[in-house]
Amino acid sequence: MRLIELRLENLRNISSLELQLDPRINLFIGSNGAGKTSILEGAYLLSHAQSFRSGQINALIGRGAEHFSVFARVERHAGPVQIGLTRAAGSWSAKVNNDDASSLGRMLREYAQVCFEPGTHALISGGSEERRRFLDWGAFHVEPEFMARVRAFRRALLQRNTLLKQGCRDLELDWWDKEVARAGESLSTSRSDYFHRYSPALIEAMACYLPELGEASTRYSQGWPEDMSLEQALKETRGSDQARGFTSRGPHRTDWGIQFALAPQREHLSRGQEKLCALACVLAQARCFADSRGEWPVIALDDLSSELDVAHQGIVVDTLSSCGAQILISAIDIPACIRAAGVPARVFHVEHGKVRTLL
Ligand SMILES: Nc1ncnc2c1ncn2[C@@H]1O[C@H](COP(=O)(O)OP(=O)(O)OP(=O)(O)O)[C@@H](O)[C@H]1O
Ligand SMILES: [Mg+2]
Repeated sequence: MRLIELRLENLRNISSLELQLDPRINLFIGSNGAGKTSILEGAYLLSHAQSFRSGQINALIGRGAEHFSVFARVERHAGPVQIGLTRAAGSWSAKVNNDDASSLGRMLREYAQVCFEPGTHALISGGSEERRRFLDWGAFHVEPEFMARVRAFRRALLQRNTLLKQGCRDLELDWWDKEVARAGESLSTSRSDYFHRYSPALIEAMACYLPELGEASTRYSQGWPEDMSLEQALKETRGSDQARGFTSRGPHRTDWGIQFALAPQREHLSRGQEKLCALACVLAQARCFADSRGEWPVIALDDLSSELDVAHQGIVVDTLSSCGAQILISAIDIPACIRAAGVPARVFHVEHGKVRTLL
């Protein structure tokens, strides 16, 4: 999958930008605050409808403007597609091949991009919500029914939580326990199926980026005890759920992780190893996508040279260029791994939200 053209309008400090991208490596260089990350972020929005940076999505709208929009021409095995996304007045509107009536979910299906950036280490050091969201993005792209299952579960969970807060009677809760259990088991099955496809790619990536930590293994917890059905688990904690006013067990509590023979606890990892671990998670997600869809997603590496040492930068760029993935890299200057190896890349210089093609 490749971005051929990317257009951004009123995105942070970029008022208007049109880029023709190289099918392989695209490097965005420039000083701090120039707008490099915003370009990667713009493309990422087309595949996630959220930024990889924290904060309100409306904060991405350029100062003084009322909307931002992103448009791309994408080449895929399934054929070319044009996608567009606009944020205005607190809501999204999406377009696929100029069809204004496209739903956001429909648009998100058309383009896939993963991103490694300074905040990605939260996959290792952060809370379980981050890891669930990450896993769900992968499952969404390989399992057509996944989004419908997420929605069904969220609806049922919301109802049960509302009833718990209202202190309603057991009879009503019996019915909603069944609903939450039905939707929850179905979501959980899809999610754990995806995790079991993802897990070997993850272990392989860990062996490539962190061989010094010994054998890696994964763990997965579904969000309630493995030896009971979700309905039983909900019944068992009903009393405490009623006291607290929310549902304490279910797929909204799923978590996963990785551990190493020589670093069994997260606290054993250095900050840099944590970043490499997060990088391996992202690249394994890309590999898993490629294995099931037959083509790589676009891979964005933000602030590459400040996140990884030169040797690891070299491994990433070599591995990704040999598998033919399109890469978008941002850095203050041309990273040593690209300069030294003479890796062919299109280089863009970014300054005050404007872009000049250098090479
Ligand atoms: N809503 C907004 N409107 C206008 N400008 C904004 C808005 N949000 C952020 N900015 C500015 O946009 C610029 C782009 O930031 P960006 O993070 O893309 O820079 P960068 O080139 O990646 O810098 P660094 O090397 O520091 O990571 C910054 O100067 C920032 O202050
Ligand atoms: Mg940046």
